[in-house]
Amino acid sequence: MIKIAPSVLSCDFSKMGEEVARMDRCGADYIHIDVMDGHFVPNITFGAPVIKCIRNRTEKVFDCHLMISDPLKYAEDFAKAGADIINFHIESDSPTEETIEKILSLGCKAGLTVKPATPVEEVYEYLDKLSMVLIMTVEPGFGGQKFMQDMMQKVSALRAEADRRGLELDIQVDGGISPETAPVAIAAGANVLVAGSAVFSAEDPSAMIKTLRG
Ligand code: DX5
Ligand code: ZN
Repeated sequence: MIKIAPSVLSCDFSKMGEEVARMDRCGADYIHIDVMDGHFVPNITFGAPVIKCIRNRTEKVFDCHLMISDPLKYAEDFAKAGADIINFHIESDSPTEETIEKILSLGCKAGLTVKPATPVEEVYEYLDKLSMVLIMTVEPGFGGQKFMQDMMQKVSALRAEADRRGLELDIQVDGGISPETAPVAIAAGANVLVAGSAVFSAEDPSAMIKTLRG
């Protein structure tokens, strides 16, 4: 089953609660929430207080993608705000193992994210504790960028490794997902697709979500 995670980065921030409720009605599986600190990436979005405010607008899974330098320090804030999955970057300054343990101890699912230049093999030693691995298909920081097709090698290698170990791992791709690129990502082994501009700029977001799901 393919899951679609609309990214609120592309929504109208003046009515974020309504936008999240709208995505729920349109058939989103997860709500993808991009947190940027202006330090790990050259852009700033919002933090835990904003997530807390939109939490009661939907019961869908809040899939938080932390593009911040110190996820260990802030994990508890995001858990308390209502995150279900906390994805952080392996390239962050926080110790990976300890951050995963912290997220799990807070009752959330843990996800590990790799930027385009990071080999996917770096996540292998943590796979048994992860619910999700997020493979970036653009440089993190901004919506509306072009899909990096060469990341598909990482997706298929990771899917093969997860299958070899008998793990039911969510493999998420993020960046440049469209009706053209979604089938490419699915064929490589991804089962969770983030879509920002594709869904939010669609005239009919429900139809777009169905199209992306394939
Ligand atoms: C980029 C974010 C993405 C972004 C994707 O750093 O992590 O989630 O919203 O946007 P699109 O789908 O427009 O490429
Ligand atoms: Zn994201």
